[in-house]
Amino acid sequence: MSKNTATAAAYANIAFIKYWGNRDEEFRIPANGSISMNLEGLETKTTVEFDSQLAGDTLQINQQPQSGGSLERVAQFLNRVRESAGISTFARVQSENNFPMGSGIASSASAFAALALAASTAAGLDLSEAQLSALARTGSGSASRSIPAGFVEWLPGEDHQSSFARSIAPPDHWSLVDCIAIVSKEHKKVGSTAGHPLANTSPLQAARVDSAPSRLDICRRAIMEKDFDTFAQVVELDSNIMHAVMMTSSPMLLYWQPATIAIMQAVQDWRTKGIPACYTIDAGPNVHVICEKPYSPQIAQELIKIPGVLDVRTASAGGSAHLVSS
Ligand code: DP6
Repeated sequence: MSKNTATAAAYANIAFIKYWGNRDEEFRIPANGSISMNLEGLETKTTVEFDSQLAGDTLQINQQPQSGGSLERVAQFLNRVRESAGISTFARVQSENNFPMGSGIASSASAFAALALAASTAAGLDLSEAQLSALARTGSGSASRSIPAGFVEWLPGEDHQSSFARSIAPPDHWSLVDCIAIVSKEHKKVGSTAGHPLANTSPLQAARVDSAPSRLDICRRAIMEKDFDTFAQVVELDSNIMHAVMMTSSPMLLYWQPATIAIMQAVQDWRTKGIPACYTIDAGPNVHVICEKPYSPQIAQELIKIPGVLDVRTASAGGSAHLVSS
C-alpha cells in the first residue's frame, strides 16, 4: 500500500434514540443527542487514493462511476480533509457496500464513516476516535455513530470539536438483533438531508428536543442493565415522537406505508403475548424490529409472512470503523 492510499470499513447503525434536526446545518451539529447500535455485517468498504495526476476528485460506488450530487458531497468532505492535512491533491474514491444499494438500508452512515477513516489516513492525519467521529459527522450526521464500536452515544455538543460519538458498551455487551423488515426498495422521495431542515417547522420539535435528554438517560440505563421492557418502551416512544414531528412539519413527511403499520401492530401484539420485541423506523417505510438473539429466528419468520414485507435481514451489534488492507 502506498503512503497516499488507505482502505477502511465501517458498519451501518440503527438509532434507538433518533437524530432529527440540526442546530447548525453546515456542520451537522444536532438538535439533540442520539443512541445507536452498529449493525454487524452491513458494511461499506472504501479506498481513498490521493493522486497528483488527478484534475478533480472521482467516485465509484459498487464499480459505478458517480457524478452530480453524490460526487459533490464526497468532494466537499474531501475538501475538509485536505484543509486539515494542508494538501491540495485530488483523490480517487472507490466504495463498496456488501448490502445492495437501494435495498432500503441506509448507507450514508457506513459510507461517511469508512470515508472519514480512509481519507484521513491516506492524507497522513492521525486522528483520535473523537476527532474521526466529528469528521464523519460533517459528511452525514449518523456517520459519527459508525466510528466507535457496539452501542454508541452521539453527544450533541455545541461546535465541531464537541459534537462526536463514543461507545457506551462493546458489541458483546448485549445480544440484541435488528431484524430489518424491508417494505420498499425504492429511493425515498425526501431523504434525511432534505428532511432535517424541516424539523423546526413542526410545532412538536421543541417538545421532542426538550424531552430527548430524559429518553437518552432511560435508554442508556436500559442498555447498561439489559432491561428489555424499559428499552422497548423508550425506543418505540422515541421513534413515534420523531415521526410525529415529520408528519407535522411543512411540507409534511409521511414515510409509512400500509405494511409499515401492519408490522408496528404485529410487534405490539407479539409483546402482549410475551415475545420481547420492539420497533423503530427511520426516514423510510422499512421497520427495524429489535429483539434479543434467541427470539430473532422466530421474529424473522413471522415478519416475512406479513403482506408487503419483501425481505428480512438480521444484524447483531457490530464493531468500530477499521482500516483494512486493500
Ligand atoms: C431518521 O444521518 O442520514 O435515520 O446528516 O443528512 O446524512 P444526514 O442525515 P442522516 O439522518 C439520520 C436520520 C434518522 C435517525 C437517526 O439515524 O438517528
